[in-house]
Amino acid sequence: MANLIEIETERLRLRQWRSSDRDTFAELNSDSKVMEFFPALLTRAESDAIADRCQLLIEERGWGFWAAECKATREFIGFVGLNTPSAGLPFSPCVEVGWRLAFQHWGKGFATEAALEALRIGFQVLQLREIVSFTARGNRRSLAVMKRLGMLESGTFEHPHVPETTGLRQHFLYRLSSQGHSMPSTSLYMES
Ligand SMILES: CC(C)(COP(=O)(O)OP(=O)(O)OC[C@H]1O[C@@H](n2cnc3c(N)ncnc32)[C@H](O)[C@@H]1OP(=O)(O)O)[C@@H](O)C(=O)NCCC(=O)NCCS
Repeated sequence: MANLIEIETERLRLRQWRSSDRDTFAELNSDSKVMEFFPALLTRAESDAIADRCQLLIEERGWGFWAAECKATREFIGFVGLNTPSAGLPFSPCVEVGWRLAFQHWGKGFATEAALEALRIGFQVLQLREIVSFTARGNRRSLAVMKRLGMLESGTFEHPHVPETTGLRQHFLYRLSSQGHSMPSTSLYMES
């Protein structure tokens, strides 16, 4: 088991998953607004399996797709963090920065605020040389987060795990190198 990294930003806490996060997570994974650019809505079992995997990877490595909690309300709002995609992507191996928030928490700057800290961990603590992000071509909000983070567009690719019939196969890839990243200053907690 690695040292657990948990992050605090001005308004959010990125932490290890709890069983109490699962109801909200299942709700957002079955919301057609949240899942518009994914091949399908998720069942409760599929949603729980993702939460289990995120929790396990954070336990093993100390970092991952963290559960995001609003500090003011202590509400679980979705996930933001770093991940090693399992798919054999054209640019693998890589570490991605990613996000998925419940619809009522969009439009508040939460994804960008949390992702900035995730990038800082990736570059400063994990010493990564590059972090990527990618999403389906039409996912304007996700692409806007990538741009706000200062990531650079790096072409398109066909996602091998997305069925052609969905019309969501073509993805935009964004990249950020450690040299291109400017470091914001917020709090980091490491526990053993
Ligand atoms: C992708 C996703 C996380 C983006 O969420 P978001 O709220 O649009 O992104 P941000 O957190 O960066 O918020 C930016 C918005 O908050 C607004 N905002 C409000 N208060 C703010 C504040 N205090 N600070 C910064 N921005 C603020 C910004 O003006 C911007 O609004 P706009 O969308 O009208 O331009 C969200 O749409 C989502 O969860 N989508 C479903 C999952 C998904 O597709 N994930 C990616 C798959 S690869």
